[in-house]
Amino acid sequence: MITIVSGLPRSGTSLMMQMLAAGGLPSLTDGDRKPDIDNPRGYCEWEPIKQLPKDPMLIDQSEGKAVKIIDDPAHGIRIEIAEKGKEVFQQCGVCHNADTDEKKMGPGLKGLFKKDKLANGKKPTETNIRAQIDDGGNGMPPYKESLGDGEKDDLIAYLKTL
Ligand code: HEC
Repeated sequence: MITIVSGLPRSGTSLMMQMLAAGGLPSLTDGDRKPDIDNPRGYCEWEPIKQLPKDPMLIDQSEGKAVKIIDDPAHGIRIEIAEKGKEVFQQCGVCHNADTDEKKMGPGLKGLFKKDKLANGKKPTETNIRAQIDDGGNGMPPYKESLGDGEKDDLIAYLKTL
């Protein structure tokens, strides 16, 4: 059984975690966020859970425990932007895999921002990736003119989720 404690920031989630712990339910926490004046008994947080939107299987690690998942009001908006970027990406999908790093016409883009370097030898920073999209090169068409700035922003947001 997994027990999820959720709510907006400052809504009493730490208190709820402490109550569950007092009642004998172990909590999944790392103690990384130290107690402070707002929360003298600690925040009872588990840092990796913030990656949950990217890695839903993380929730398995809270089996038999209570875990705190703070509701981030901006989260839905970020997902929406990435979803729009995914649509823009359809035209890139002919040459790029999004779900593996296996090469199609161009390199697979899974984990793009975590690569040591890009095929062109540069570091996978947002600036360099934007430049790759704008200018293309080495078999990739340039998108400087054909994509709007908003579309490129959405696309980058999507690429960051890979
Ligand atoms: C006709 C095929 C083709 C299309 C369409 C294409 N690309 Fe590429 N892309 C490539 C090739 C080939 C490379 C490798 C370039 C090199 O070796 O420097 C590349 C490289 C990249 C890289 C660098 C990846 C790395 O690991 O080095 C990114 C990011 C990228 N493309 C994103 C996109 C996006 C976003 C789109 C759609 C807007 C797109 N590409 C459309 C062929 C394509």
